[in-house]
Amino acid sequence: MKINGTPYRTIWPTADNTAVEIIDQTKLPHEFVTLRLNTMHDAERAIRDMQVRGAPLIGVTAAYGVALAMREQASDAALAEACSALLAARPTAVNLRWGVEKMRGLLASMPQGERAVAAWQEAARIADEDVAINAAIGRHGYEIIDAMHQAKDATVNILTHCNAGWLATVDWGTALAPIYTAFDAGIPLHVWVDETRPRNQGASLTAWELGQHGVPHTVIVDNAGGHLMQHGMVDMAIVGTDRVTARGDVCNKIGTYLKALAAHDNGVPFYVALPTPTIDWTLQDGVKEIPIEERTPEEVTHIAGLCGDGQVRTVQVTPQGSRAANYGFDVTPARLVTGLITERGVVAADAAAMRAALTA
Ligand code: MRU
Repeated sequence: MKINGTPYRTIWPTADNTAVEIIDQTKLPHEFVTLRLNTMHDAERAIRDMQVRGAPLIGVTAAYGVALAMREQASDAALAEACSALLAARPTAVNLRWGVEKMRGLLASMPQGERAVAAWQEAARIADEDVAINAAIGRHGYEIIDAMHQAKDATVNILTHCNAGWLATVDWGTALAPIYTAFDAGIPLHVWVDETRPRNQGASLTAWELGQHGVPHTVIVDNAGGHLMQHGMVDMAIVGTDRVTARGDVCNKIGTYLKALAAHDNGVPFYVALPTPTIDWTLQDGVKEIPIEERTPEEVTHIAGLCGDGQVRTVQVTPQGSRAANYGFDVTPARLVTGLITERGVVAADAAAMRAALTA
């Protein structure tokens, strides 16, 4: 996608192929800063500190992390150490495990002398594959938006939560890919952007990238969605996901479940867009089985923003001494999901349908 007219991905190899660069997402939307990751530990830190975030991008960064480790030392021990360090960086998005295991699977049986080059090529291939997958998600999701537009013959209002746009992937995004595809095709649409406390991925990242692309949007507080749905102001919701179980339960940023409940109560279609590597075929019951990340309480007690003097500052919003809990994700049961928009088509959130459509 373009930033001020210049095409960017969220992660790319340096010109001399010795490191990778990323967009530091902790600085957006007020500053656009790129960062160089020279080592596996740089990649691990970037994932842990959420300089890169979003399930697919975490997976690709982890793959490059393994490749960076192989540059330094390509032994079996170094491979094992890199994989376990990266796997521990964040717990919920299964794409991290997918990316790491894909690299391990390729490298483990290979002579050590060949690992560095092969790892670099494989990480680049995984990144390219992510772009192609998301473009296909965009095409399938476009059909849904187009049908809605034809039925309504007016602006289509779409609600999204967190950031599942191109910043959360290598390019295009998952939930936002259908939106960009429909917008580029000339369908009039407007996006309701949940701010997504505590880290404000909606207000900071989704609003920023939609704005860069010229897509009309409005930021709302996290609790506004139900009200808008009751008043017919939301035609559909599309969200991303960090892990989908084999029976279609969907784990995504905290607050997604409440949006799905409100959508269900108001007859608003609730779609989840995902690349198939986000499916964890080993799990069934998402509520019981998916590990939910708990982050530092300071993300709840404090908030950062741009001050009148042009400086970004962090301020405390809670009383001194109040405790805070910071659960990063929740699980939306499959019964609340209208459909899964994947690169292989739109599939029901149902064990049999998913197995038939996605494992053949
Ligand atoms: O904590 P984050 O910002 O990594 O959470 C991101 C999300 O929850 C996204 O919705 C999800 O990863 C899908 S990204 C295409």
